[in-house]
Amino acid sequence: MKTPLKKSIDPLSVTSDAVVLPIPAPATLTGIAASADLALDGLVAACIADGEITGEPGEVTVIHSGGLIGAPRLLVVGTGDGSDDAWRTAGRAAGRKARALKARRVALAAGDADPAAVAAIIGGFGDGAYRFERYKTGGATPDVEELRIHSTTATPTQIKRAGRLADAVAAARDLGNTPANDLTPTALAARATQLAERTRGLDCTVIERKGLQKLGAGALLAVAQGSAEPPKMIVLHYTPTRRAAGGEVLGLVGKAVTFDTGGISIKPSNGMEEMKLDMAGGAAVVEAIGLIADLGLPVEVVAVVPATENMPSGTATRPGDVVRAMNGKTIEVINTDAEGRLILADALTYAATVAGATRMVDFATLTGAIVVALGEVYAGLFGSDPAWTEAVRTAGELSGDLCWPMPLHPDYAPLIASKVADLSNSSNKRQAGAVYAAQFLREFTDGRPWCHVDIAGTGMVGSAGTGFGVGLMLAVADGLAHPAGR
Ligand code: BES
Ligand code: MN
Ligand code: ZN
Repeated sequence: MKTPLKKSIDPLSVTSDAVVLPIPAPATLTGIAASADLALDGLVAACIADGEITGEPGEVTVIHSGGLIGAPRLLVVGTGDGSDDAWRTAGRAAGRKARALKARRVALAAGDADPAAVAAIIGGFGDGAYRFERYKTGGATPDVEELRIHSTTATPTQIKRAGRLADAVAAARDLGNTPANDLTPTALAARATQLAERTRGLDCTVIERKGLQKLGAGALLAVAQGSAEPPKMIVLHYTPTRRAAGGEVLGLVGKAVTFDTGGISIKPSNGMEEMKLDMAGGAAVVEAIGLIADLGLPVEVVAVVPATENMPSGTATRPGDVVRAMNGKTIEVINTDAEGRLILADALTYAATVAGATRMVDFATLTGAIVVALGEVYAGLFGSDPAWTEAVRTAGELSGDLCWPMPLHPDYAPLIASKVADLSNSSNKRQAGAVYAAQFLREFTDGRPWCHVDIAGTGMVGSAGTGFGVGLMLAVADGLAHPAGR
């Protein structure tokens, strides 16, 4: 989706398939909305008087213009109380409607709304207009090609960033929605390689099974050993031409289990197809570092994405097996379905001790327990360093990738104890499942400031990928690039 900025030209006179007009609640007509109403002989005011337009977020009213403006229709969308969340919701509704109406070129009459609201409505529009129809033979609805932004406040840089972010989110959603027979660890590595080839300052290294053996990444290898698909540890490194003060290296880690059957501790068949999305964290990380590099943010970033399938077979890891992780700690595998924490263990070790990350965030569809606790709205946020955790939470608020703080505490440590090894990957106690996983991951962070974002709920909604985390990671990187602003 192209998102050019037009400052001077009147959005009502340009030729387009639809004009999106935001209206607050309670509905009032000021600025560009008043001009639109005037051009349409008071049609908008009439809809407000009838109570048909209230301005509530999510409301879309289609008004046919009869040639009175440059577009055949006006999409009046409610922006409620004017919060960024409400503008995002308005964008989603507009995007959905524009797509349904087969609009190809859409103009957004943002008027003097503040740049953060404009960014939010662009992001929402991208979300709403998204479809995954690659596997439909014929009959796919055409993409919205262009969203032309008419704003008196937003800069071209702000508009460009919001548009690129929407594209990166869509790319992460595509990766998630692609079935596991096509989106293998090899295919995900190919996407990372492609991004590195086309982006200045971005390098990609893919560590194969042999290399993983040399590194002693026994936890990742244990998960991978049941599958015919070879595992990959995907490492992306972004070196900026210009660097902000602080010398931080942001480490992004993302779980990429391209299909999670549970392994020998196999999952029930009902709904198992959703586990093609168990790589949503890894996809978000790959697309986020691609975006950060593409925008040329002045901050060094490394991304580490462990990619594998989790399959049952004659070569699969058994419950009770003991494996040695890359940092030397031994793990008793109680449940082979608790595979995410195993592959992240080695990825976190690699990010901290080999790739040189000074602070880290990981994204993982890690536990069903976080879905029970927080549903599909908030991700679970765990962290070892209060200031860093708060920075990540704030980045979530700014981007719309909402995160709710969850606890870590030494008194939870008995949960991860094992009788035979240093740690166990699962406990039979049905307690604090999401905390257990986070407490386990902390053992592999080399004592660096680290956050864990459990996106099992937010990363997949209605059996489809959401791209959750891409916006958050961009905002986190931005925070490190502009340390004075925080
Ligand atoms: N990928 C799943 C978690 C998951 C569940 C993601 C539902 C999305 C939706 C993870 O690998 C898993 O199987 N976790 C187990 C852990 C348990 C065996 C300790 C879980 O949450 O049940
Ligand atoms: Mn699992
Ligand atoms: Zn999993």
